[in-house]
Amino acid sequence: MNLVELSPGGPRLSPVVVGAWRLSEWGWSPQERLRWVEQCIELGATSFDHADIYGGYLGEGLFGEALALKPGLRQHMQLVSKLGIKLVSPQRPGHAVKHYDTSAAHITWTVDNALQQLRTDHLDLLLIHRPDPLLDADEVARVFEQLIAAGKLRGVGVSNFTPAQFELLNSRISLSTNQVELHPLNRQVLDDGTLDQCQRLRVRPMIWSPLAGGALFTSEEPAAQRVRQALTTIAQRHDTSVATVAHAWLLRLPSRPLPIVGSRRPEALREALAALDLRLDTAEWTEIWNAATGQRVP
Ligand SMILES: NC(=O)c1ccc[n+]([C@@H]2O[C@H](COP(=O)([O-])OP(=O)(O)OC[C@H]3O[C@@H](n4cnc5c(N)ncnc54)[C@H](OP(=O)(O)O)[C@@H]3O)[C@@H](O)[C@H]2O)c1
Repeated sequence: MNLVELSPGGPRLSPVVVGAWRLSEWGWSPQERLRWVEQCIELGATSFDHADIYGGYLGEGLFGEALALKPGLRQHMQLVSKLGIKLVSPQRPGHAVKHYDTSAAHITWTVDNALQQLRTDHLDLLLIHRPDPLLDADEVARVFEQLIAAGKLRGVGVSNFTPAQFELLNSRISLSTNQVELHPLNRQVLDDGTLDQCQRLRVRPMIWSPLAGGALFTSEEPAAQRVRQALTTIAQRHDTSVATVAHAWLLRLPSRPLPIVGSRRPEALREALAALDLRLDTAEWTEIWNAATGQRVP
């Protein structure tokens, strides 16, 4: 499967990205983790999304341990990671309170640690995980430039940033994405200018929890029930799955998002990838929107 450019001249990722957040919960052996990585790559989802804090700071290492069984796989994949949150954790006894840290020293240390844990010499993309009120844009841009010049990073971006926060850091260094939550049950980035900004700058957003973390299937909230019904009706019309329609709803957006799939099941990845070939028409897209808001568009 072809890779897509996240931003003009920016890093290239697979159009559907694999999320590694839940990897540590699956209780897999290194061989099982390797098999999962290989299956994702075979299906065409070659980009993997990590963060330093996933699995209580153990997730990147679990992935790297699997990759060490077949190091040649690295050249067939793209690795994304995030940093900037400091958790209280047995792995970090020095952290007394959960807080953010986007200092140059923390960024440099965390990137070096990610490279070691993931058993790689570079990250294809590094993101600031959450907006930090103490973020100094000049300091962050400078350290990002140094890490790119050293060959440790191919691109940089942010996650969960408002348009104004994105604008500030992007005024100092070109950001390649804003990784944000979006699904029919949380449409904030469609309303607050985040995706408009992405479209204006031709920066493709990455979408986390595209299935609302599974709540699209399991929640008994009225909005979830209405959305599930609308997705099911459209899925039957196209002879496809509910998950495929949920991903197609995201892929229809003109900011051209890249969904991040969080499932452990290859079938769920297949369903997400099938959405690349399903274009919802405007009326279908709106049926899902209306189901989510509980109203017709004015
Ligand atoms: N930047 C950020 O702040 C941020 C925050 C959260 C996540 N992320 C990234 O986004 C990725 C995806 O997030 P996510 O895991 O929340 O994505 P998701 O794809 O919306 O949710 C995945 C969850 O939904 C469940 N699920 C999928 N299909 C289902 C079905 N048919 N019925 C019931 N449950 C179903 C999965 O269980 P099964 O495994 O059993 O299928 C899994 O637990 C993460 O891995 C991480 O890389 C980033």
